[in-house]
Amino acid sequence: MAVDTEPHRSGRATSAGELKIKNVARAFSGIKALDGVNFTADAGKITGLIGPNGAGKTTLFNAVAGDLSVDSGEIHLDDTRIDSKPTYEVFHQGLVRTFQIPRPFARMTVLENAMFVPASQQGEKFWNSWLRPAKVAAQEKANLEKARAIVEFCGLSKVEKQLAGSISGGQQKLVELARALMADPKTILLDEPGAGVNPALLDVIVEKIVELNKRGITFLIIEHNIDFIMSLCDKVVVMAAGRVITEGAPDDVIANPAVIEAYLGGAPL
Ligand SMILES: Nc1ncnc2c1ncn2[C@@H]1O[C@H](COP(=O)(O)OP(=O)(O)O)[C@@H](O)[C@H]1O
Ligand SMILES: [Mg+2]
Repeated sequence: MAVDTEPHRSGRATSAGELKIKNVARAFSGIKALDGVNFTADAGKITGLIGPNGAGKTTLFNAVAGDLSVDSGEIHLDDTRIDSKPTYEVFHQGLVRTFQIPRPFARMTVLENAMFVPASQQGEKFWNSWLRPAKVAAQEKANLEKARAIVEFCGLSKVEKQLAGSISGGQQKLVELARALMADPKTILLDEPGAGVNPALLDVIVEKIVELNKRGITFLIIEHNIDFIMSLCDKVVVMAAGRVITEGAPDDVIANPAVIEAYLGGAPL
């Protein structure tokens, strides 16, 4: 069964999930990890975020996803201002992120990991489970079916009963994607989905991103693998030392001398 995200998107504008970063700054002990970051991840598109280590990419993700407050600036998801909102509020606005290093619940199975995504489930409310057991049971069944469909979509059915701590790093990245999809997001932030993933599995991840994007999900992706960025992204934003140094079409960005300089001090990419 394929994942059907359509019903969840039907109430939304055709193009949703635009993420606007406006002059965002954040310092750690005086070090400006984010020093006035401006860019937009366009609705319905795949935007790449690249830059050398320490550029501030992960810090930006933390700020967007509600894991970190900002010192100044604004972050908007469509019409909602989300900067300095707690993670669960950002999550309920339809934005989810994955981590550079996957963080599955290692002692839960792959399927349980997918099912254990916070949602406004009736079963979580004490009185509802007492008063309306049939409704709760129906909801749990629906949740299981949804998790199964998403796990299958992510190519994880064969390992769905294995502990998430026992599968490969690449498969754990797919578990993170599955968990993200359980939230019916309009925007997904992926932090280095290709890191430590074997080439065959990387192809699978690329394919899934393309398919999800075709269904309307907006992506912002941090990735060092240039082939990955070139083949996938509509636009690439380049950060260095807490600032955006350029943005544009992948071909133009990769050929930009400022980008080459930022990465390698002048050597070609
Ligand atoms: N929680 C933190 N405390 C102190 N410094 C941090 C913290 N998070 C990030 N930094 C610093 O912010 C800068 C940007 O880091 P990061 O966002 O991880 O870069 P990137 O993901 O682009 O490699 C680095 O200098 C890093 O050491
Ligand atoms: Mg990082």
